Amino acid sequence: MDKPQEKPHCKPKKGLDGGMMGSESKRKDNILTYKEVIAMAPYVITRFPVIEFQSVPLRNLIVQKWSSIWAFCPDPSDMLIATYPKAGTTWTQEIVDLLQNNADEVACKRASTVDRFPFLEIQYPPPIPSGLDLLKKMNPPRVIKTHLPIQLVPEGFWENKCKVIYVARNAKDNLVSYYHFDRMNQAQPEPGPWEEYIQKFMRGKLAWGSWYDHVKGYWREREKRNILYLFFEDLKENPRREVERIMHYLDLSVSDDVIDKIVQLTAFNIMKDNPMANYKFIPKVMFDRSISEFMRKGEVGDWTNHFTPAQSQMFDEDYKRQMADVDIPFRTNI
Ligand code: PPS
Repeated sequence: MDKPQEKPHCKPKKGLDGGMMGSESKRKDNILTYKEVIAMAPYVITRFPVIEFQSVPLRNLIVQKWSSIWAFCPDPSDMLIATYPKAGTTWTQEIVDLLQNNADEVACKRASTVDRFPFLEIQYPPPIPSGLDLLKKMNPPRVIKTHLPIQLVPEGFWENKCKVIYVARNAKDNLVSYYHFDRMNQAQPEPGPWEEYIQKFMRGKLAWGSWYDHVKGYWREREKRNILYLFFEDLKENPRREVERIMHYLDLSVSDDVIDKIVQLTAFNIMKDNPMANYKFIPKVMFDRSISEFMRKGEVGDWTNHFTPAQSQMFDEDYKRQMADVDIPFRTNI
């Protein structure tokens, strides 16, 4: 296992090779999409175990490659979308891409979500490319995804003052979404029975660790580090307002019509039908959609269909204890 290293001296490298896995229009002939590579090597997919690393359960492959991940040096023009898994990453990625492309639908369908937005820490056995492999093949500015808690985000993002958007989702809906995802994603640890899953979530034992620590970590640093902290529930309640917030944060300016178009293109039902954003491009060996869809419900309050009253009460009591030291305005219904 790689040891965590000293703070890297982060100087963005110029002149990457210019290849761009992920951009169907610009990609080199010998560069394959995730879909193609997974289809070529389905045997490498397994439910990868997680191990504790700096008190955070992470996939074993991420821990093995930690020193390279930690040493990653972004360009100042790169931006990061950080979330606890299932909090609204894909939605926000699509909004950002559309904002950056003036709502050009065709441009934003140039490649799938996983090929457009490198997932910083993700690691698979070869030949499936890691997030770092993808990053090497793309020129800045890149929109990078991470699920890492703030203390594990490579220092270069802060040293280079990269823009960082954090999206948080209320704990109960986040848990429900993660449960169904762990059922269908054959690369994630087995979720086990629902009742036990709730306990694992509360004890911070799921991959990428404690939801409570995650949302608190970014919340506490949001002003000092100029992080735009968004809520899934706000996006759902008033997407236009949130798209405008993202636009201002990114120092972009698009017309009202363009904003309307972005709101329309990122509505749940539209994204669910968008082959470049709905994750149907991931082969069944990895995402078994006969178990659950990636674009499952996209709602606020679905937790009421899962928690019994007793589970809800137990969860709420524990929540009060775990969140007593912070006041983050989460909403479990809108
Ligand atoms: S991941 O795997 O961590 O990147 O997943 P992530 O994208 O963060 O979260 C997936 C959940 O977000 C829902 N989703 C949306 N909801 C509303 N509107 C839009 N446009 C949208 N896009 C994605 C998706 O359906 C997952 O939530 P659940 O509750 O499981 O449906």
